[in-house]
Amino acid sequence: MRDVAIVGVAQTKFGELWNASFRDLVVEAGVNAIQDANMSGDSIDAMYIGNMSGGLFVGQEHIGALIAEHSGLAPIPVTRVEAACASGGLALRQAIMAVASGFYDKVVAAGVEKMTDVVDATPAIAAASDQEWEAQQGVTFPSLYAMMARRHMYEYGTTREQLAAFAVLDHENGSLNPKAQFQNKITVEKVLNSTPVAKPMNLLDCSPVSDGAAAVVVCPAEDAHKYTDTPIYVQASTQASDTIALHSRKSITTLEATVNASRKAYDIAGIKPNQIDVAEVHDCFSINGLLAIEDLGFFEKGKGGQAIEEGLIARNSEVSVNTSGGLKARGHPLGATGLAQAAEVTWQLRGDADKRQVDGAEIGLTHNVGGTGGTVAIHILSRDQKL
Ligand code: COA
Repeated sequence: MRDVAIVGVAQTKFGELWNASFRDLVVEAGVNAIQDANMSGDSIDAMYIGNMSGGLFVGQEHIGALIAEHSGLAPIPVTRVEAACASGGLALRQAIMAVASGFYDKVVAAGVEKMTDVVDATPAIAAASDQEWEAQQGVTFPSLYAMMARRHMYEYGTTREQLAAFAVLDHENGSLNPKAQFQNKITVEKVLNSTPVAKPMNLLDCSPVSDGAAAVVVCPAEDAHKYTDTPIYVQASTQASDTIALHSRKSITTLEATVNASRKAYDIAGIKPNQIDVAEVHDCFSINGLLAIEDLGFFEKGKGGQAIEEGLIARNSEVSVNTSGGLKARGHPLGATGLAQAAEVTWQLRGDADKRQVDGAEIGLTHNVGGTGGTVAIHILSRDQKL
């Protein structure tokens, strides 16, 4: 297998983007990533698109052909990849595997979602849960994660304030990211006093409904310096599955798919969790940010709340988490999130993250979750090819 490098990244602004269509967003991200890689569009071999539900959000399926036409990349193969909110992470993994195997040399992975065109996004998002046993019984994603939060509070004494502190940290970082949907700072008090959505999750514990796209260009590591002076190397790309329904799990305070995918990734990369400098974790709700920092092995199970409160995941601390603002503040256009995470880690490792730059970041991780953890994709990226 060949080593793979990231040589180009891009992200559109995330938010309620009334002036941009689905196709506009993904074309903007794709073209900018190809330009960032100093490549020409006609040299690209293939493209993978992460998209959760073009059908339910904008009535559009057959997304590969749509993007091939409007990006001007036809006749190259363009393939849509779907795994709920992990669609982007899986699109990146497909691109990496295609290059690693020697099948293609220059591949774009892009992710896109246009969620704000529907009046109520909740039923479309709920399609990522078990329809018969969860959604049709009235359970939504905020309520599924609320159950996980309640159980974590019961088992480990995690406090409401500790959960809120995760959202505060995201907004602090988001305030430094011009591409973030929310660039305002918030306080623990504000989170606690925001509108209840599914107790104990309030409005400011939730990621928003967002439009946006992001893209990444990969090529064989041995060719990377032809395109950029600062290639970022893929040390591991892993994926794990778990039950789609939350009630089928042994525990609802651990995402086993995060544990399995991350342990495999650390093994492949030959590193320990404490060597990660920057991590973009999947905090669709503040509880999932907290579960992530435990399940990824950054902190012991049950100690995540304390770590957040003590500032151990702030920029330039033990591990700098969600420097982009995370899903909470940067925004969460479902299919785009995994690629936006990879773009942020790439900017950090290149030293291009501007005001939110972490000093001397060398190794980064992305953690992209589908549903309540039925699918998880992990990527470990580094500045140096050899660790
Ligand atoms: N964080 C901060 N502010 C938010 C917000 C969020 N998550 N969601 C909405 N707002 C703001 C809006 O900007 C708007 O502000 P304004 O009045 O100043 O313009 C206001 O709150 C009301 O917005 P609205 O769109 O009416 O909110 P809503 O009640 O329809 O939606 C949620 C709020 C939390 C239900 C919605 O954001 C949501 O479903 N989030 C979860 C998405 C999700 O499940 N993703 C997949 C995870 S697995």
